[in-house]
Amino acid sequence: MRLFLAIPLTEEVRQGIARHLRGALAHPLPGRPVRPENWHLTVRFLGEVDETAADRVVREVDSADRGRAFRVRWGSLGAFPWPRRANVLWVGLERGAQEAELLAAVVEEAVEAAGFPPEERPFRSHMTLSRLRPDQDVTAVLDAVPPVGLAMAVERVVLYRSHLGPGGPRYEEIESFPLG
Ligand code: 2AM
Repeated sequence: MRLFLAIPLTEEVRQGIARHLRGALAHPLPGRPVRPENWHLTVRFLGEVDETAADRVVREVDSADRGRAFRVRWGSLGAFPWPRRANVLWVGLERGAQEAELLAAVVEEAVEAAGFPPEERPFRSHMTLSRLRPDQDVTAVLDAVPPVGLAMAVERVVLYRSHLGPGGPRYEEIESFPLG
């Protein structure tokens, strides 16, 4: 099964960001937009894993000291690797990025304790809004959308299973780990 760990959005913020984007943009997002119901902040992508490895991850993340709940505020849109040649369009955090990074480091340690090789890419908190293949210039989109400015509490990290299908992926919550 294909798994990843992520911070879920509250329903209020999910709808708020969707409304914010609709209000600022005359057209749908370029590329292949992620459906709002699938929006999340990925903490650690695990890829294809068997049941034994999944059980180990659950055990390790469950017993890790995940720290306290914290607040984040969603901020400006950005793009990887560059706005002029973007393949990922995302929304970032203008508050709570440091706490999210700390949480990602705790999760990384737990995942490695479960036997996974270390993540090679540095963690950069972002929530993917659209994927663009081939890459596109998204500077006009970035210019058109003011910072989101919506806050929410991060009270849990979730283990999701990704079901790939013809209509795009569907994410199933398989375990929820509360923050203190
Ligand atoms: P992204 O949003 O930056 O693309 C589920 O696929 C989540 O895992 C996505 O949000 C994705 O992050 C993240 N992810 C990280 N590495 C991935 C990979 N190699 N393949 C697919 N998803 C990956």
